Amino acid sequence: MENFEPEIVAFCCHYCAYTAADMAGSKRIAYPPNVKIIRVPCTGKVDAIHIMKAFEKGADGVYVAGCLEGDCHFKNGNTRAKYRVEQVQKYLTDLGWEKDRVAMINMSAGMGEFFASTALEFTQNIKQLGPSPIKHFNTDGHQTAVS
Ligand code: FES
Repeated sequence: MENFEPEIVAFCCHYCAYTAADMAGSKRIAYPPNVKIIRVPCTGKVDAIHIMKAFEKGADGVYVAGCLEGDCHFKNGNTRAKYRVEQVQKYLTDLGWEKDRVAMINMSAGMGEFFASTALEFTQNIKQLGPSPIKHFNTDGHQTAVS
């Protein structure tokens, strides 16, 4: 498990988190390559099915990064995203998964360092949790032993 490198999907709002990631890049602030960014116009466009699909496709952890509360360019998209993330956390708990595999993070466009530090922190947290439980199933749908 020590060599486990988690796959992380980050749904990032175009106006804040994506720009913050861009800023981190232009300032040469490193963040883990485990984090794969999916740019969305607003986190309000991220539905629970998108998060669950990311897990189905192999993500070990998923986070949604939106504008600071009260700063969403579409009024309340980040509030809706926060609610959906909480719903997915409940689904994961019902499935017997760790709810911390999914998170909502808020930031402004100027928070490049924060983007990098949260990407690192989330990656480390998922590394501690280990591979997604869905990876314990083979292609036939049978559960397999994890080595
Ligand atoms: Fe950024 Fe809505 S525009 S979360």
